[in-house]
Amino acid sequence: MASLKTTVAGIALDCCIYNASGPRTGTVNALVKIGESRSGAVLSKSATLLCQDGNPLPRYKEFPLGDACPGSINSEGLPNQGIDYYISEEVVSAIGSLAKHYFVSLSGLSLADNLEMLSRAMKVQGIAAIELNLACPNIPGKPTMAYDFEQMDAVLQAVTTHPSFGSKPLGVKLAPYFDVPHFQRAASILNKYPIKYVVCTNTIGNALVVDAENEQALIKPKAGFGGLGGAYVKPIALANVRQFSQLLREDIDVVGVGGVASGTDAFELILCGAKAVQVGTKHWSEGASCFNRISEELSVLMTKKGYKSIEEFRGKLKENFCRPKAAPVVPKAANDGQGSAGGISALHVLQIVLCILVAVFLAREFKVTSKDVAAL
Ligand code: SIN
Repeated sequence: MASLKTTVAGIALDCCIYNASGPRTGTVNALVKIGESRSGAVLSKSATLLCQDGNPLPRYKEFPLGDACPGSINSEGLPNQGIDYYISEEVVSAIGSLAKHYFVSLSGLSLADNLEMLSRAMKVQGIAAIELNLACPNIPGKPTMAYDFEQMDAVLQAVTTHPSFGSKPLGVKLAPYFDVPHFQRAASILNKYPIKYVVCTNTIGNALVVDAENEQALIKPKAGFGGLGGAYVKPIALANVRQFSQLLREDIDVVGVGGVASGTDAFELILCGAKAVQVGTKHWSEGASCFNRISEELSVLMTKKGYKSIEEFRGKLKENFCRPKAAPVVPKAANDGQGSAGGISALHVLQIVLCILVAVFLAREFKVTSKDVAAL
């Protein structure tokens, strides 16, 4: 049986698959369901300083991508119970009793909020790591911080020099980048700070999905603009994981998220360099049992390929140096478009039948008997 063990920020996880912050992560019941599954860790909903309801409904929809697994668009607007809930004794001990590491995600509406939440969370025993979400695209009037490099730099500077910083590893959730100079710029900022992991990536922000039948946007908030997730974003997630695993300091782990619906999807992200893989959209549609299924599929795939651990293939994506395959050699008779039967084409059979018919016709016409034939 292949092992799915890994480490993220030095924290040992029995399974490299766990949940993304977002769907089904807002309450202790939802978090316990994740903890009871095979998920390697439990990650909270991104918390704000105070409890908030988020954006108006409908704010999450799935929509198909051909026959493949669905994509999703959301503009949840960080509905959550507030930081004090996610770091409360009730939640921390419920997850601790399941022997799962608990990661807490923070997404403050201001730097001051982030610093306040950080100092509260850093003090709580039973929280393994803190994930700072710099990439929520769904707060009306607020830009995505991970796209504003100066602000990202300033926030990381303030967070990592704050007196409360240091007792727990810090991870940063990034927005998806699309251009090489942006990957480089983001990496050069991240490399300056004592962060332990990054998560690539949050949804592709400000996408628009149209309901043609009703001639309206699919979701309500922000005039329909929301974060695109699920199957649509997997190639972007793969690219971001690949780029950051090559550009970041070696001691910064990369966690992949985006369009993971199967063991093969998880395998691909690990091949690109991910030390662990989070699941968002599929967790929403399938529930916590998706962690069991995806882990099992990954394990089966690894066994089939002869891998015993994820380190045996992690980051080892090959470039495509293959020469185009030579066209298969097809026997001539099968390639002449006439069909074949044991090397004799249908045309040959037709020719023989015609000859016999002509011979019979001529024999009748000239009254040739079998005696005449024998006399020949
Ligand atoms: C949301 O609550 O709007 C989604 C969280 C995120 O995109 O960071």
